[in-house]
Amino acid sequence: MTKASRKVVLEVEQLRTALDEHSHRYYVLDDPLVSDAEYDAMFRRLVELEERHPELQSESSPTRRVGAAPAERFEAVLHSQPMLSLDNVTSPEQFLEFDERVRRLAGGSASIDYMAEPKLDGVAVEIVYRAGELEVASTRGDGVRGENITANIKTIRSVALRLRQTDDRWPVPERLDVRGEVIYARKAFRELNRQREQAGEPLFANPRNAAAGSLRQLDSRVTAGRPLEVYFHGVGHAEGLSVGSFADLFDALRSWGLKTSDLNRRCADAAAVIAYFEKLGAERENLPYEVDGIVAKVGSFALQRRLGEVSRSPRWAVAFKFKAQQGTTRVRDIVPSVGRTGAVTPVAELEPVSVGGVTISNASLHNMDEVERKDIRIGDLVLVERAGDVIPYVVKSFAEKRDGSERRFAMPVSCPICAAPVVREEGAAIYRCIGMKCPAKLREVIRHFASKYALDIDGLGDKLVAQLVDKGLVADVADLYDLTEEDLVGLERMAKKSATNLLRQIEDSKSPTLARLINGLGIPQVGERAASLLAEEFGSLEALCDANAEQLLEVREIGPQTAKEVVAFFTADQNRAVLKRLREVGVNPVAPARRRADGPLVGKTFVLTGALSVSRDEAARLIGAAGGKVTSSVSKKTDYVVAGSDAGSKLEKAQRLGLEILDEAGLRRLLGEEPGA
Ligand code: IVH
Repeated sequence: MTKASRKVVLEVEQLRTALDEHSHRYYVLDDPLVSDAEYDAMFRRLVELEERHPELQSESSPTRRVGAAPAERFEAVLHSQPMLSLDNVTSPEQFLEFDERVRRLAGGSASIDYMAEPKLDGVAVEIVYRAGELEVASTRGDGVRGENITANIKTIRSVALRLRQTDDRWPVPERLDVRGEVIYARKAFRELNRQREQAGEPLFANPRNAAAGSLRQLDSRVTAGRPLEVYFHGVGHAEGLSVGSFADLFDALRSWGLKTSDLNRRCADAAAVIAYFEKLGAERENLPYEVDGIVAKVGSFALQRRLGEVSRSPRWAVAFKFKAQQGTTRVRDIVPSVGRTGAVTPVAELEPVSVGGVTISNASLHNMDEVERKDIRIGDLVLVERAGDVIPYVVKSFAEKRDGSERRFAMPVSCPICAAPVVREEGAAIYRCIGMKCPAKLREVIRHFASKYALDIDGLGDKLVAQLVDKGLVADVADLYDLTEEDLVGLERMAKKSATNLLRQIEDSKSPTLARLINGLGIPQVGERAASLLAEEFGSLEALCDANAEQLLEVREIGPQTAKEVVAFFTADQNRAVLKRLREVGVNPVAPARRRADGPLVGKTFVLTGALSVSRDEAARLIGAAGGKVTSSVSKKTDYVVAGSDAGSKLEKAQRLGLEILDEAGLRRLLGEEPGA
């Protein structure tokens, strides 16, 4: 680390300004100036300079958009001015009544100048800029007090970290509490759910939930991976701001680099607002994001002040909502549906009903928690909604309409497709079929088995797997090893040469490391890391297969959920049959090198708790290298508990059991290190 020279200070400032400019052009104006590669090069240079000169780091540097370490909880933030809500109207007549009231209160004006805007279906946020720098961002909460989501908001690329001074008419205010809506675009939303389905995670019901879920992440690095967008539509408290109307305000916001909707329009009177409402309603399905109506606001701020507010809603604005795309129908049945990853989700079969011109006959209930929370039963009368182009969903059931013949849905204990056990993931509302042969998930099972960090059969791409499964050439992973050239030649894009190559790769995959084979089995919760810990601990597939939950829990980093999944997986007859076949066709994993058999700590079991001067992994490595083993829970079988600072319940348990407790220095002595080394 060296003290930054003036030249470096200047370069850092230039890079930040340039990167801000390029982000603004790309994310706000949708008009990029440089290529992604050029942007990345500048970004990397800035990261490098900031790493070398930590004294130059700044909260508003573009490098701070990547997300920070997870927070424990969201702090409360008081809004300087309450964030109000809007009254709704749903028809032109009701809107005309609103307009009439405004004109009356305005002293009998002939017409009112409005700002009409899309009502974005997202999450309301407030961002405080002080001296042009983003200071704090919060959710609306109850309108008075929201949650501090600053770290998450900063990851949104279209949010300016510093306001720009670009127009003499609009000096950057000393303080600006700007309000807007964070949204998830439809296309990005579909992609997010596609990825979540592939990963076996619960799907978001609609883009608004996806936006809310992404903003409420305690780990902002997760938020950073979500392409959220923001549109600003108003201000709360401000100092040094002098604008007279919404039209001016939006002009000023844009000049400072804050994104506003391109769809905002000035309307000279109520008729123009109604025309805008109808036009937007007609375009609604084609917009890149979901809009549930329009917001009409009195354009002049002087008039707004005169109108004031009543019961938490301003008298100068109104939400003019589109007709909800809803319908009422009956649930004929609720059936479990098995997805590609084995996730079993309840689907409602409905009496067909037309909603917004589309006939709906089934709706996703997403997961068991939702079925229970909404208390949806077979035979219930329910309200269904089509939100944009999202799969229809059940909004609620009408419990008061029940006649007693309704039945509750229960998740089946075995898979409706393959009969293998269905296992619930604790904490998550996910149920999963664990059968390796399940036709619903076979493609995924094979794809995962052949993937890079598993059996690494490079030539076995997605398209080929699909063909092998669809043509009935493989019914489980072991069948791969029985494939012949005849089977392969004749498949799409499969000449004799590529068939020979693939068969060789399959043959060559017969001696994977045990860890790769375990990873390749696709046991829920068991990824690369857990697979290698299990391989190291049990040394053979047979031993792992016979392990009980207690033995599994002894393994470092293996928790109760993983232990449960592993036991369930190896108990399923279907999976045992596949493992037996794998052995028969000659798949023979290579056992990992055993722990040192002659170290000073051979046969000794350790539990680590509290903070040590080195990471837990490093401590575990040192103990392992000396022949000892580290487990995660304290039991009578534990030989030593190593307690660092702030050790908690594990230390107490160790004291209760009368186990030997070491501090870090004690551990180092056992390892044969010199004190103070
Ligand atoms: S202005 C006094 N403009 O709708 C409230 N709100 O029902 C002024 N919303 O909490 C709000 N698009 O989150 C305004 N163009 C828009 C909006 C909008 C969406 C949301 C906002 C607010 C809710 C009010």
